[in-house]
Amino acid sequence: MKEQYRLRRERLMEEVQGPCLVCLFSGQAPMRSLDEEYPFSVDRNFYYLTGLERENMALVLEKDVSGRTSQALYIEPYDEYLAKWVGGRMRPEEAGGISGVETVLPLERHSGSVHRFLDRSRGVGPVRVYLDLWRYKEGQADTPAHKLADRIRREYPYAVVEDVSGRLAAMRCIKSPEELHRMEKAQKVTHIALEAMMRHAYPGVNERELEGAFDFALMKQGVREHAFPSIVAGGARAATLHYTGNDQPVRDGELVLVDLGAAWDHYCADISRTFPVNGTFTPRQKEIYNTVLEAQRIVIDRARPGMTFRDLNGLVKDYYASRLEDLGLAAGGKTVDDYYYHSVSHSLGLDTHDLRTDRQSVLSPGMVITAEPGLYIPEEGIGVRIEDDILITEAGAVNLSLAFPRTVEEIEAVMASRG
Ligand code: GLY
Ligand code: MN
Ligand code: MN
Repeated sequence: MKEQYRLRRERLMEEVQGPCLVCLFSGQAPMRSLDEEYPFSVDRNFYYLTGLERENMALVLEKDVSGRTSQALYIEPYDEYLAKWVGGRMRPEEAGGISGVETVLPLERHSGSVHRFLDRSRGVGPVRVYLDLWRYKEGQADTPAHKLADRIRREYPYAVVEDVSGRLAAMRCIKSPEELHRMEKAQKVTHIALEAMMRHAYPGVNERELEGAFDFALMKQGVREHAFPSIVAGGARAATLHYTGNDQPVRDGELVLVDLGAAWDHYCADISRTFPVNGTFTPRQKEIYNTVLEAQRIVIDRARPGMTFRDLNGLVKDYYASRLEDLGLAAGGKTVDDYYYHSVSHSLGLDTHDLRTDRQSVLSPGMVITAEPGLYIPEEGIGVRIEDDILITEAGAVNLSLAFPRTVEEIEAVMASRG
């Protein structure tokens, strides 16, 4: 993999305009209480360029006036005392070995290196510093990149601070064979755990117990990380798209909608399935389920390069509109929007909602996206979502989630195999 990280860094450096620095940070877990931190999860752009997943590391890529490039990693020094309490920090040779960055320096020298570069570049014309300045939401706490941007603007007014997040997003959108291999692994472990969960279901089971069955089966396979908090929603609770209460009993005759996924080497699976807790769909549940399944089939059959996310969602809405009357859902002027109020696809990768894909974004070969139509009828206690992950190729979509039970018959067969 080290070769991949090196190639990605080289490609990025070809795209940015010198003389410049590109600085990325691995991040730091926020404190939770006196001596406890929230779980740490590495900055995905830093990971994408280094393969390193430890806190308090910085990557600096430099392009000088003559276009020559160099790279350095800054890490905290090994600490014998800390090693006795929480395990050792990474040694420089290990960090260099994983990332392929040959120069590994103590973190305390990072600030001085940035200063030396900017000082040397004074008066040579525009000099740039590229940072990941993407704010996911208003009021989000400053990251180390935002703090460095402020410092550079204040102390080196001749330097131009640029946001590099868009370039990295464009690179990350298109998956390499190695990335696809990891995504396939995430599919495989999620599939095994999902079936274990389905086989654990019985009328009256608490959503929490089902979540635990999934988690246990993931951990047995060595999974360290979920792609996102699992959604396990019985009956009408399935109409809340991001329900995470997961603490109610699922009654006999109800459906349970689960939306969950493992991450493998940080690459995510994002799967939704809906199954009857007692093992058998009612005729009405089957009718709604098969409508959603057909909408998904249409999306997967038709998805190809050049289409937009909006086009894909239009396919679902058009199909639902053609079925609303037959399903008895058109009374009182109700429309598709009353029963389907999200979009059918988003980009998937190192993050579950990966990168800046909006409705106008165009599909390209190498992208992995979800196909997740749903229908939600809380007044009938029914919510159905079926979500698979698909790879866009020149020839159309390849379903990465093919092994999962999908049809009514396949789902009932898994449920029938309960002990
Ligand atoms: N798991 C969230 C989503 O499907 O988008
Ligand atoms: Mn999902
Ligand atoms: Mn999704």
